[in-house]
Amino acid sequence: MSARLPGYERWLGRGSLFSRCLELALKEGEGSRALWEAMEYTVLSGGKRFRPYLLHASVMAYGGDIEFAAEPSVAVELIHTYSLIHDDLPSMDDDDFRRGMPSNHKVFGEAMAILAGDALQSRAFETILDEGYVKRAGAYLASRLALELAKASGASGMAGGQALDMTGGQQDEEALAAMHDLKTGALISFTLRAGALIAGSQDLAGADRIGVLVGRAFQVRDDVLDATSTKEQLGKTPGKDAEQGKFTYVTAFGLEGAKDRLRNLLEMAEEEVKVLPGDGKALLAAIGLLRA
Ligand code: IPE
Ligand code: IPE
Ligand code: MG
Ligand code: MG
Ligand code: MG
Repeated sequence: MSARLPGYERWLGRGSLFSRCLELALKEGEGSRALWEAMEYTVLSGGKRFRPYLLHASVMAYGGDIEFAAEPSVAVELIHTYSLIHDDLPSMDDDDFRRGMPSNHKVFGEAMAILAGDALQSRAFETILDEGYVKRAGAYLASRLALELAKASGASGMAGGQALDMTGGQQDEEALAAMHDLKTGALISFTLRAGALIAGSQDLAGADRIGVLVGRAFQVRDDVLDATSTKEQLGKTPGKDAEQGKFTYVTAFGLEGAKDRLRNLLEMAEEEVKVLPGDGKALLAAIGLLRA
């Protein structure tokens, strides 16, 4: 993914502010060594880092200062990773494979996997509200970003969407989209909003529109890939949705129907990005990558 995205290495690669900040967030502290190991295991097991990239790209698209993007990017990646660890638990999707490795609970056991998710969530907020970031970014921006991330992660955000997914019963496109907007869209919308806030923009409605479109596109693509890819390509078990009888864009509209919808969502997102005040190149590249 990285090779095709402008700025990826500079923003997220070795030696970047993001990678130093991530290292700090995972630095073993007091408490259980096994827990710190479990936290590090999935965070460092090679996710695409799509949300941190989007956040940096959004700062650029809104004309903001990229220096303030690292901490909130680490925070959203920690929350996202916690959501994946819990998503794979036997009581949820029961998935043994994640990011090309055995899932967290397969290595550390269920109790430790639950706790690793819990602790990563706390660590995300510590990262945004860290004294150093508050001093650099200002108390208003840091606390606003923490509030935005809390909303995006909780019952009216990612966790709420996961709950809708678990209870099932979605039977039409509207219900499916509403679930996607929460389980996947909320954290993605956070990255767009964070970019706008860091740039001091008032245009949060535009950020939300892009966030919803990209979030939906991302989950439609994930559902398509679940039906069409191999374990090696995905780094996680394919065919999970069908196995569990999930109602997805693929089961609702067929592969071609799902792909048509994906194309439409991406085109609409691109139109929205083109009118933003800053440099939208990276954001357009990230959206373009979802065409595959
Ligand atoms: C997977 O997200 C979960 C969904 C929201 C569909 P990613 O595809 O971004 O997973 P990683 O971070 O690259 O492993
Ligand atoms: C999960 O959606 C979205 C999250 C909030 C974790 P999926 O269950 O489809 O994600 P994968 O396919 O396991 O990565
Ligand atoms: Mg799931
Ligand atoms: Mg899953
Ligand atoms: Mg999936």
